[in-house]
Amino acid sequence: ELRGIVAMDGPSGTGKSTVSRRLARGLRARYLDTGAMYRAVTLAVLRSDVDPTDAPSVARVAAEARLTVGTDPEHPEIRLDGEDVAAEIRGERVTRAVSAVAAVPEVRGLLVSRQQEVIAEADGADVGIVVEGRDIGEVVAPQAGLKVYLTADAEVRARRRTAQDTAQGRRVSLDETHADVRRRDEFDSSRAVSPLRRGTDAVEVDTTHLDVAGVLAELFRLVVENG
Ligand code: C5P
Repeated sequence: ELRGIVAMDGPSGTGKSTVSRRLARGLRARYLDTGAMYRAVTLAVLRSDVDPTDAPSVARVAAEARLTVGTDPEHPEIRLDGEDVAAEIRGERVTRAVSAVAAVPEVRGLLVSRQQEVIAEADGADVGIVVEGRDIGEVVAPQAGLKVYLTADAEVRARRRTAQDTAQGRRVSLDETHADVRRRDEFDSSRAVSPLRRGTDAVEVDTTHLDVAGVLAELFRLVVENG
């Protein structure tokens, strides 16, 4: 069982969501997927016919969107204006636009506050929480007892993403996915506000040569060691 906060950061395709959810389940903790929140705001932007690179309009849509985010690792819930958008936010349109939306400072300000409220509530109830994203250990929850930075070779990450998309019924090519992974890494790492990077106090776990069970074993070991 876990009482504190585990911060899980790193780029996409490292298996971060899968292992974060399973870690939370195994520790009887809550789970917060911050990427889903950026994706839901992006969906709101696209539905409003706002250009994702038009920062002031994006900020306005974000301020008006009603997001509901759940913390049950069995059923991570994400709603936009009451509607369940869990499937739609994984689509190609949202994936293409999300980095631009996530680079808008007002969007980050809003979502980081919401994330901190969710974390404070878990803390207040004395339950642990596993939080995954890009800036958790550095910005959202610098007080986290364990900070993990997951990595993997870009090509391995592209292959995993393609397999996942195919399993979920989306048709994608490995080349396109590889290009998207590189483009998002580049964008997320070079933005002005909270760029993606490994914090000095984060433990790096390279998942290139590990399967899900192998990563989880390493994470449980780290939790025990740190707690
Ligand atoms: O993790 P996921 O791929 O769902 O995240 C989607 C996008 O949301 C990332 O590419 C990044 O641009 C943004 N993001 C972020 N900060 C977070 C989580 C996600 O900027 N904490």
